[in-house]
Amino acid sequence: MPVPASGTAHLLAGGHGGPGVLRPMVDTVLDALAHGAADRGGPLPAGGPAAVDRRIRGAARPLIPDEGEGPHHALRTLVRALTHGAADPADPRCTAHLHCPPLAVATAADLAVSALNPSLDSWDQAPAACALEALTCRALAELVHPDGPAPDALVTTGGTESNQLALLLAREAAGGIGSPLRIICGGNAHHSIHRAAWFLGLPAPHTLPTPTGVLDPAALHTALDRLPDADAPTLVVATAGTTDTGAIDPLTELADVCDHQAATPHIDAAYGVVLLFSDILNKMPQGLDRAP
Ligand SMILES: Cc1ncc(COP(=O)(O)O)c(C=O)c1O
Repeated sequence: MPVPASGTAHLLAGGHGGPGVLRPMVDTVLDALAHGAADRGGPLPAGGPAAVDRRIRGAARPLIPDEGEGPHHALRTLVRALTHGAADPADPRCTAHLHCPPLAVATAADLAVSALNPSLDSWDQAPAACALEALTCRALAELVHPDGPAPDALVTTGGTESNQLALLLAREAAGGIGSPLRIICGGNAHHSIHRAAWFLGLPAPHTLPTPTGVLDPAALHTALDRLPDADAPTLVVATAGTTDTGAIDPLTELADVCDHQAATPHIDAAYGVVLLFSDILNKMPQGLDRAP
C-alpha cells in the first residue's frame, strides 16, 4: 500500500497534539470555504447539473489516488469545489426546502466531536459524552412532559426512526408480531409512518383526508367508530409540524377523542418540537404531553 504524501499518515485529531495538528488544516478548510463561496457568488452554483458534475470530476480526479497529495492540497481542492457547488442555506437569497443554515457554534462543536469521536454505544468508550447524553435526554423529555414522574427520552437518527420506534412499541403493547394493531393517521402524516407499518408487518394505516391541512377530531371520532376492527388496539398518529406546511394538528382535541375511544395517540413532532425552545412560540404545540 503506497504511503500517503507528506508523512501525515499518523497524525491524530484528538490527544495532546491534536489541536496543534488540526489548527493549520482548519485554516485551510476555512480559506477554502471562503473561496468556494466567492466562486459560487449566490445561493446555488451556476450552470446546472452538468457544470457541477464537470467541476467535481475535475477536483476529485483521481478519486482514489495511488499516492496522496497531502491533507492541505486535498482539503483545499475538495472543500473549495464542494463549497462552489453547494446549495447554501446560509445565503440570504436562499429559501431552503428543509435543511437549515447551521449555526457557527454548532459547526465548531462538531469539530470537537469529530476529534474526540465519542462512541456512545458503551460508557467505557465515551464516559463524559454518555453522561451528557443522559442529562440532555432527560432535559428534553422534561420540556415535553414537565409534570411527568420521570420523563426520559432516547436519541434516534431522526423522525423516520422515531416513528418506526413508536409503531414498534405500539405493536409490542398490542401483543407483538401478528397483533391486530389498527393505525389511523391523517393525509398530512409523514410517509415514514406508512413505511414503518410495512416494515413491521403491520396492516397499512387508515389515512384520513386532511383538506384543511390538519387532522380533524370529528373525522377521527367517526373513523374510530366506523372503520373495520373497532375492537382492535388502535394507534392514532397526529403531527406537530407537518412536513409540507409546518401545520400543527389539534393535539389536545385529538388526544381527548383517543381517550374517549380507548385509542393511543402518537405525536410525530420531528419538526415542531423545537417550538418548545422558544419563549414566544412554546404554547403552539399544546397537547404534546398527551402522547405517552
Ligand atoms: C413531520 C416529519 N416526520 C418525520 C420526518 C422524517 O425525519 P428524518 O428525515 O429525520 O428521518 C420528517 C422529515 O421531514 C418530518 O417532517
